[in-house]
Amino acid sequence: MCTIAWCREQADLPSVCRTKSTKRVDTRNHFIRRIFYGGLLLGASCLTGRFWLGSLWYYQTAESAPDVDRCTAGVQLEAGVGDAKWIDNTHVLVGLDTGGIAVWNLEDDFRTFVLSHAAVGHDGVVTSVSVTCDKTKAASSSHDRCIKLWDLSNTVQFYTTQAHSDIVYSIDCHPNESDLFVSCSQDGRILVWDRRKVKPASILNKSPLQYTPTCVKWRPDNPYKLAVGSESGQIVVLDTRAGVDNSYLNIAPHKRLVNNLQFCPNKPSLLASVSEDCKVVVCTTENETMKVIYSNTTHRDFVRGLTWSTESQLYTCAWDSRILLHDITKQTATFMGESSSCKLEVNGDIADHPVENGSGDVGTDVDKSKLDQCKLSYSQAVKSQPEMSAEG
Ligand SMILES: *[C@@H]1O[C@H](CO)[C@@H](O)[C@H](O)[C@H]1NC(C)=O
Ligand SMILES: *[C@@H]1O[C@H](CO)[C@@H](O)[C@H](O)[C@H]1NC(C)=O
Ligand SMILES: *[C@@H]1O[C@H](CO)[C@@H](O)[C@H](O)[C@H]1NC(C)=O
Ligand SMILES: *[C@@H]1O[C@H](CO)[C@@H](O)[C@H](O)[C@H]1NC(C)=O
Repeated sequence: MCTIAWCREQADLPSVCRTKSTKRVDTRNHFIRRIFYGGLLLGASCLTGRFWLGSLWYYQTAESAPDVDRCTAGVQLEAGVGDAKWIDNTHVLVGLDTGGIAVWNLEDDFRTFVLSHAAVGHDGVVTSVSVTCDKTKAASSSHDRCIKLWDLSNTVQFYTTQAHSDIVYSIDCHPNESDLFVSCSQDGRILVWDRRKVKPASILNKSPLQYTPTCVKWRPDNPYKLAVGSESGQIVVLDTRAGVDNSYLNIAPHKRLVNNLQFCPNKPSLLASVSEDCKVVVCTTENETMKVIYSNTTHRDFVRGLTWSTESQLYTCAWDSRILLHDITKQTATFMGESSSCKLEVNGDIADHPVENGSGDVGTDVDKSKLDQCKLSYSQAVKSQPEMSAEG
């Protein structure tokens, strides 16, 4: 499964934007979101005039991305996209620059994006979205300093709070408790939320993290541990229980801001990170230490998105408009013992995307005629939202 990233595109994706505008186009791929059955969701934004326009792309085979002509489905949005997450096998939750969220459904055998629901709420760009473990609710974070919770069946907002005093960079719902989530902000704080409590937010002791946290992710197999990346390139794994010594799980593999982090769903001791230093890093968190086992500097611009496909394959996307597949089979074999070397649990990304259909045809060739039929269905569905971009 994959997580999304953003890429600034000069080559492939700009053609999407050119169909909408003859002006000079600056495009960046916003995110690559996860893979299932070998499929990949990619998000991009391009600047047309003064506005960012987002687009969502679905590729039946990851190798086809980001070639516009080989997508299975694509849709142009009326606003830039900040983040997206799968809700189930076909529904995608999208956070928009306008402060709204939208749920898109891949219909017609994954060939058409159809808008299910959309709503506005934030007074600023949505920086991150996350779906609760029971898949009924979602959380969003924004430049407006607020965190909001949404009912996914109708995208009605039912909870809003301004607990941070600056931009909220990242939010992540707990892997198995639907009332728990974590957020981090430019204000330097990491907050752990428990909505069952009278005072739901508590400040997490972030030591040994220095500087501002920029992204947070729960470890999928441990209810207390979460990884945090910072603006300085440091990564720590913190334990939310008081009194636990966090100082050992601490590393600084990047030289600049960490854009995104993801534990490997099949092997949660592996943690991948991408950064503005153009580097992709995988480290192990075994034995209460962190060690870099893979580092790749092939991207030529900010790396924004990443998604694990298997425990030895990772996709990343960057503003250089490329999507790279990293094969870390050798590294995991060397560092993690023979037990992990040949095990590929393709559909294991439960935390990210539950796969109900067990066929798992990862990498199957898609019928060429199907690809030729690929059509972009431009949508006006979110057109009510640009009014919001005035930032009241
Ligand atoms: C979440 O997982 C932990 C241990 O992994 C367990 O103790 C707890 O009961 C689980 N919570 C739910 C709601 O399943
Ligand atoms: C962790 O410790 C075990 C047992 O001591 C060892 O076999 C394994 O190689 C260690 N893992 C790492 C990543 O150092
Ligand atoms: C980095 O990743 C690219 C794309 O997968 C690959 O071609 C290259 O060999 C990798 N470099 C290193 C040092 O692993
Ligand atoms: C998997 O999907 C195919 C086609 O969508 C369907 O025919 C099949 O019954 C599904 N299998 C399961 C186990 O749901």
